[in-house]
Amino acid sequence: MGKFLLPEPGSVTERPDSSLGGTVEYVQADYDDSEWRELNLPHDWGIEGPFDLNAPGETAKLPWQGIGWYRKQFEIDEADLGGMVFLDIDGAMANPLIWCNGAFVGGWRFGYASFRVDLTPHLRAGGDNLISIRLENLDESSRWYPGSGLYRNVWLVKSSRVHVEQWGVHVTTPKIEEDSALVCIETVLNDETGGESAGKSENAIYAPNTLLRPLELQHRVFEANKEGLIVGEALVESARETVEIQDGFAAHSSICVTIDSPKLWSPHSPSRYVVETQVWEDGQLQDRVETLFGVRSMAFDADNGFLLNGERVMLQGVCLHHDHGALGAAFNVSAMRRQLLKLQEMGCNAIRTSHNPGAPEMLDLCDELGIFVIGEAFDCWALPKKENDYCTCFQRWHERDLRAMVRRDRNHPSVIIWSIGNEIAELWHPEGWKLGRRLSAICKEEDSSRLTTAGYNFGGAGFDGMQAAVDVTGFNYKPDLYAEFHERNPTRPVYGSETSSCISTRGAYFFPFSDERLEGRKDFQVSSTDLHTADWAFTPDAEFKGLDENPCAAGEFVWTGFDYLGEPTPFNADMTNLLNFSDLEERERIARELEEQRKNSPPSRSSYFGIIDLAGFEKDRFFLYQARWRPQLPMAHILPHWDWPEREGEHTPVQVYSSGDEAELFINGRSLGRQKRGPLQYRFRWDEVYYEPGEIRVETYKDGEPWATASRKTPGPASNIVLEQNYPREGEADLTYVAVSLADEKGVTLPRATDELSVQVEGGGELIATDNGDPTRLEPFQSSTLPLFYGKAIVIIRRKPDTDAGIKVKVVAAGLPEAELSV
Ligand code: GAL
Repeated sequence: MGKFLLPEPGSVTERPDSSLGGTVEYVQADYDDSEWRELNLPHDWGIEGPFDLNAPGETAKLPWQGIGWYRKQFEIDEADLGGMVFLDIDGAMANPLIWCNGAFVGGWRFGYASFRVDLTPHLRAGGDNLISIRLENLDESSRWYPGSGLYRNVWLVKSSRVHVEQWGVHVTTPKIEEDSALVCIETVLNDETGGESAGKSENAIYAPNTLLRPLELQHRVFEANKEGLIVGEALVESARETVEIQDGFAAHSSICVTIDSPKLWSPHSPSRYVVETQVWEDGQLQDRVETLFGVRSMAFDADNGFLLNGERVMLQGVCLHHDHGALGAAFNVSAMRRQLLKLQEMGCNAIRTSHNPGAPEMLDLCDELGIFVIGEAFDCWALPKKENDYCTCFQRWHERDLRAMVRRDRNHPSVIIWSIGNEIAELWHPEGWKLGRRLSAICKEEDSSRLTTAGYNFGGAGFDGMQAAVDVTGFNYKPDLYAEFHERNPTRPVYGSETSSCISTRGAYFFPFSDERLEGRKDFQVSSTDLHTADWAFTPDAEFKGLDENPCAAGEFVWTGFDYLGEPTPFNADMTNLLNFSDLEERERIARELEEQRKNSPPSRSSYFGIIDLAGFEKDRFFLYQARWRPQLPMAHILPHWDWPEREGEHTPVQVYSSGDEAELFINGRSLGRQKRGPLQYRFRWDEVYYEPGEIRVETYKDGEPWATASRKTPGPASNIVLEQNYPREGEADLTYVAVSLADEKGVTLPRATDELSVQVEGGGELIATDNGDPTRLEPFQSSTLPLFYGKAIVIIRRKPDTDAGIKVKVVAAGLPEAELSV
């Protein structure tokens, strides 16, 4: 019973080598793998590089393609052979095929799906059991960096013959009143040996053990007899219910219980409960599963947007791809938590897992932190975006993949809706809604408590019947259509499933500031004025206006929260860009532009879309969203920085983002005027500013009262290196992020520094990656030397297992004293 993390540290070997694919000797026990590398999971072989300038930027110029093998030897007790042993894989990129002791036991296609294979018949008692896994990533199978290998957790699950099926507990809260909530628990028991048995299932609800947070310190699952997620006395217990399993068919049990004075789950108070399910046979405990859930009601309303527990909540969301920047696709709870906390600081309350199911731990984190989630299944159906993408297996696999996503994730209180796809080509086709309806129906069969949605990029989809494919229409980049949609579909809810696609490089400013799309792109960087967008896209302000003028819309999901690996628009020659254009002339023009781009081999390998850069540093836009999403937080932010020795006396416009409604700008103490922000205006702009060194400062007001101030000063020469612990801000985590910058002797930061750094980590930690947020840098992320990029760099350190020793980070840059920080 219970689950165990696979592997034990340092006991998996891997050899990504495309020339070796298909050679089945790797699955044999006597194959000599002593030359193979030992490593820990999760693992992404692509992120190890090297970058190749001539490889496609759309998938990050990294070698994620090809075939990789993993082998793992492990022990099985005689006693375990009386029950079942499964291998649960949370995600393997891609096309995993699995052997156990030389016998083929199964596989999957979709790299983002979680799945299980049964090892039981092939195991023997003792230590010489072997699992071999082959992965294959095809060229032209992704529009972004997909990662490669066993990039999510893998679990060896041991259970009794009679056990709760995988994802076999489904908890819903169909009736919530002020002083009570009805909790319904459906349990699926199985006996895969095909025998007949009569199990008894019993459920109890507990308050969760909050001492087990943060998640970094907790395994997601527990051995049966050890303390798990539950604590204290049960709040309610169900009677034991007999469930008869016949001929190996799964058997269902269904009960409802009432909990008194329920604590509702919400972003401000993400309370959870735990169901403990026990399975008994002949008076013996056979299996025990703990399922976290939350009590809350959700609704989408055509006039009033999204309602949580009966009250309107604006969806202030972002889309996220699955990579962790310099760490690649290899899932890490600390890296994910850092991303989510940063987004919350901005006021973000929702994530769209674009465009595929996320890691299960990501949803655990969203439950815990109070962040809403759109669980999205696909980026395409049978019609391709790339030659070898999911289209190659959609017909045979979509049902399994969709059911797997919904079944796995339906107990998470954070998940508010299922998305059956993003910008699906079939949904441009007059008959496409039928297939859409079928996919929606699959979601409902697995989970009748949630609605479905899709991200439509074709405006007509809101009017030509295609909207019938799902319950809630998601528009990608259509702020101008909310009004017409609402008028013509008065009973259908709508929201911005993908918005803005503004592009910028953190810290880079090119003059003149201009709203023109092609301006502001120099040296493969994009000016950080938040006025530049992809050709099909809008500034954040245009979407804000669309939402403010149409309160029916439930909110937005900005493309994207963080920069991600791949898709470096506007320096991306990926022809799938053309899918964004319905106008044929425009399409042809862009096709020509992309052809030209291809010839130039731009070095760009990661996106410019992020509100936050790849290293995790805020771009200016962070504050534009914070001003809107946290209106009660007194804040002000000025751009650009104030270090322009070459621009003395030159026209240097200034913008201010603030949650205040009035602002006065001062240059070296002289007022440049006070402005009031009118309706539908989201930023303050002073276009007639002429640079002089010193200080630029803003004082803001709200309702006539002083609100927040901000200033930027011209720095002198660098005098020292500044090291700051960027994550975790409190508590412990397996990863520590240290930010590096330079300051002058008065402590003023140098925003343009490019000094080369050399980093050393001593004691209980090891350096695993560095980054500076530069989308064009082709040095390996594992390098211990790197330049500052617009004044900043990040160092990522992993705590070594089994040591409490302190960790010391040392950073050297020429001509400056060495800096040291204990973390
Ligand atoms: C959208 C697409 C996203 C991303 C984005 C960039 O059309 O759904 O995956 O490509 O464009 O602006």
